[in-house]
This record gives sequence, structure tokens and C-alpha cells, in this order.
Amino acid sequence: MAQSLKKLTTADIRTMYQTRDPITMITAYDASQAALVQAAGIDVILVGDSLGMVMLGYDTTIPVTVDDMVHHAKAVRRGAPDTMMIVDMPFLSYHQAVFDTVRQAGVIMQQAQADAVKLEGGVKIAQHVSALVDAGIPVCGHLGLTPQSVLNFGGFYVQAKEQETAEKLLEDARAIEQAGAFMIVLECIPSQLAKIVSQVLNIPTIGIGAGSGCAGQVLVYHDVLGLNSGKRPKFVKQYANLQAPIIDAIKTYRDEVKGQAFPTPEFSYDISHRALSALEEKVEASELAPVDHDPLDEER
Ligand code: KIV
Repeated sequence: MAQSLKKLTTADIRTMYQTRDPITMITAYDASQAALVQAAGIDVILVGDSLGMVMLGYDTTIPVTVDDMVHHAKAVRRGAPDTMMIVDMPFLSYHQAVFDTVRQAGVIMQQAQADAVKLEGGVKIAQHVSALVDAGIPVCGHLGLTPQSVLNFGGFYVQAKEQETAEKLLEDARAIEQAGAFMIVLECIPSQLAKIVSQVLNIPTIGIGAGSGCAGQVLVYHDVLGLNSGKRPKFVKQYANLQAPIIDAIKTYRDEVKGQAFPTPEFSYDISHRALSALEEKVEASELAPVDHDPLDEER
């Protein structure tokens, strides 16, 4: 069983695929999350543009910029230096000239020290994938429910349920493989289709809401840990519900400050007796002005 004791490479991913060792992936967006993910021995961290929704409070991933991705990916790299890190190319950062795509991906690779980038789309973006691979940048594809196209889909719905759309997805997957991608995420598609795509391709598929027939699985950090409120998609298995204990802990902190139960001496520092006596003497002798007003007044 491959564990992320040393940072995996694309060659390691290929070996895992060939030896049928399931590939584990989870998102992370900052150093503390990344450190926990690395400690848990996850194979690959995805710095997803889902950060726009779970970290930045947007309704979709569309407002996310390359600068946002770099900012978060740099933090993830610091938190998990020994884990393979794939970084999403955000909305419209790979839809213009191929030259621009390579330049934007270069910024992500160099500034965030990413190991690969992920792009949403099929045939239409295949030439961008080829150009990136030619430039030495490993690419992970992403098909199915591609959140950057949510406005075209009209919402976050299961994709490729009909024969025509299922065939189109298969064609897109082939195009991305031929363009040189080393892996493809399949999001929110029927499990039977994901299985067929996975059998037809010679590169690993990573499923999210795509059933068990993929070479690996990915989930969003906040979903796994139950850090979100609101409706949970069917495909999310919540492995913990941390929202309630976090709110409870913060409420207890608030109550203890209000009730002057925190901080106790256990959480405070002492000055030496000598220094304290000298200080008190000076205050007594009015060498230091005693505070005769509410110290918070000036701040209000
Ligand atoms: O942005 C993201 O987190 C993703 C995963 C849902 C695959 O693309």
C-alpha cells in the first residue's frame, strides 16, 4: 500500500494505477489543513478552486482568480511539503490563447511549487492540455460536473445521464488522455459510465460522485469533516461532524470571557517579586501616572 511518506510523482501515480492501488485525494486550502492531510497519509492534495465556495464564501467557483489559487496553494505547499499537490487552473485562465494558458500555469507551478495543474473540459481544451504537457507541466483533466460551467448547466446537477451526453463524455476523456493528461477527475456522473470510461482509458480516473469503478477517489476537505452547513450532495460521505464541536468550543470561550472565568493564572505570566515591588513603589510615588480612566475609552 503506497503511503505519502515521500512525495509521489506522476510515475508513482502510474505505478499505483498499474498495480491497482487505489489513489486517495482530498482538497486542502491552507497550511494547517494540508499538514493534517499529509499526516493522514493521503496520496494527493488537490488545491481545488472549490476554495472559492468553502473558504471565500462565493456561491460558485467563477470568481476565483489565478492569484487566489497561488495564494492558497503556497500555503498548502508549506503545510504539506511531502505530498503531491495538484492545483486547479481557475475560470477563464485557460480559454484564450494557448500561450496565455502556459503562462498562467507557469505562474502556478513556479510560485506555488505545484506538481501538476487541473483543467476542466474535454475536446475543446485538448490543445491547451497538449501545450502544457509539452512545456513540462503535468495535467489532470476534469469531466462531468465541471463547476466552472455551472451557469451553462443551470445548477449543480448530475451530468452525462443520456446516451448522447455519455458518449460525448467518453470522447472528451479520450481527447484529454491523448493530449497527454496523466489523470482525469470524473465528477457527478453515473457510476456505470465512470466505470466504462475508466476501463477504456489507460490513465487513472479519480471519482467524486462517480461510483466505485474509478482508480481513485477525491472529496472536499470540508465535506469529509462536516465543516459545512446546508444541503449535502448525495456523493458526500461525511466522516466526522466537526461543525457542532467547533461552535460549542467557541461559545464556551465567549461565555468564559464574559463570565471572567478565562484567563485563570494557569494561562497567565508572572513578573518577578523584585520587579513588581519596584514597579509598585514607582506607581505609588507617582513616577508613573496611575490609570484613572477606563483603558477601553480611547478605543471606543
Ligand atoms: O475544486 C475542487 O475541489 C474540485 C474537486 C471537487 C474535484 O475540482
